[in-house]
Amino acid sequence: MIYITGDIHGAANIGRRLNMRNFPQQKKLGKQDYVLIAGDFGLIWNLDNEDRFWLKWLDRIKSFTTLFIDGNHENFDLLERFPQEKWNGGMVHRINDSVLHLTRGQVFELQGLRLFTFGGAASHDRAFRKEGLSWWARELPSESEYAEGLRNLERCNWQVDAVVTHTCSRSALEWVHERSGTEVEPDAMHDYFQQIEDRLTYHGWWFGHYHAEAELPGRRRLIHENIMKLGGTPPEGPIRNP
Ligand SMILES: [Fe+2]
Repeated sequence: MIYITGDIHGAANIGRRLNMRNFPQQKKLGKQDYVLIAGDFGLIWNLDNEDRFWLKWLDRIKSFTTLFIDGNHENFDLLERFPQEKWNGGMVHRINDSVLHLTRGQVFELQGLRLFTFGGAASHDRAFRKEGLSWWARELPSESEYAEGLRNLERCNWQVDAVVTHTCSRSALEWVHERSGTEVEPDAMHDYFQQIEDRLTYHGWWFGHYHAEAELPGRRRLIHENIMKLGGTPPEGPIRNP
């Protein structure tokens, strides 16, 4: 079983999101099952006692394996120090025995599903953040990460079951804009995902970042606090339109 949820932002929310009362389905899960966080995991922030406590909690107390893609609010200096390895077809950073960071532009085969992952996003609150302390330029992908994503999609003939990204395509952003009035400017990432969206055959595209729940046309799902089963196609669930 694979479950997916949206932005967590570290120690302040992880216990609430993934406790037994909020996520009772975990009783039936084992370490061969996954909970995937669609960016802004936030527990690789300064690796203080609090971060370490929750990382250990996920590994030792929780029944499932935790996967995350990066968002914009991660400490990339620390994240990139973890050992890299090939895992189920794609590159990961291994945080501990059962917490793994799925890196950008990778295709994973998990429980019979082919999954394309691509983290990162531009911070909207950049003006209030300090480089190296609360903001990292690596929140945006490098040219080689963009290229690797296309290469890996080419390798699987542009067919996957699910896409998991932190931000979204330009058309998805426009859809979110129209309904929420938020003023997020489209950037190179939105264009890159648009290029992929126009070409790729996929059953479901999941993204976070905008802190809302919404079902978009084209089997695209903006997810925040919901914890939903990740099948090929996004299931219906409680919606709070942005
Ligand atoms: Fe974010």
